[in-house]
Amino acid sequence: MRKPFVAGNWKMNKTVEQAKALVAEILPGIQSIDSVERVFCPPATSLPTLSELLKDSGVGLGAQNMHWEASGAYTGELSAGMVKEFCQYVILGHSERRAYFAETDGTVNKKTKAALAAGLTPIVCVGETLDENKANLTAEVIKRQIHQGLAEMSPEQASKIVVAYEPVWAIGTGLAATAPEANTVIKSYIRDTMKEMFGAGVAEGVRILYGGSVTAANAAEFFSQPDIDGALVGGACSKPDFIQIVKAAAA
Ligand code: 13P
Repeated sequence: MRKPFVAGNWKMNKTVEQAKALVAEILPGIQSIDSVERVFCPPATSLPTLSELLKDSGVGLGAQNMHWEASGAYTGELSAGMVKEFCQYVILGHSERRAYFAETDGTVNKKTKAALAAGLTPIVCVGETLDENKANLTAEVIKRQIHQGLAEMSPEQASKIVVAYEPVWAIGTGLAATAPEANTVIKSYIRDTMKEMFGAGVAEGVRILYGGSVTAANAAEFFSQPDIDGALVGGACSKPDFIQIVKAAAA
């Protein structure tokens, strides 16, 4: 049985004061729903404050990125050890980082290994662009992202990863994939690829999320699919929507 997982990716939104206010609004609505693993991923500036606020709440905290090196001359970056001071999770390979900040399957691979070594749970994002989707390259792109992003890992390491399928064309567009469409990619291109790489036990146990225009209105349909274990939520991270999405995952 895979425990449902709902994470909010706040992206580059909210000052510390605004982040505190949002947590204060959402937390009472989701705190008791412990059948779902719930995670907030605010900007790095809010991590110290929110880690105090969320202590003993049962709700986890994640960063949105990190570097693979432990320390050194990497201006502007954070190491896994620094993230681990405040967080249990880290989003890696988000399509916005791939598109705007030169993230590649190779850097995702190094970051994922570094996160695991530090005891963080990596939320590894994969997804095809609109052009790749139109050119029928979805299977090829997703399998490559999984093969290369999760290369040279042991089944034990792989079992600790959460994967998020976020088709780039569905992010922030209001045009979500259909639930069966997302399930097919997750089952046939992600779970089955992980089965080839790490064995049936890992593939059956690993949580795979859908992300891309998930809302309070469509979440339940995604969660009714057999291979979709939760959601990575962007725009719907505000109070009523996020609470509804967590409730849908628990149902
Ligand atoms: P939206 O939910 O705004 O489409 O964003 C999804 C996303 O990128 C989460 O990481």
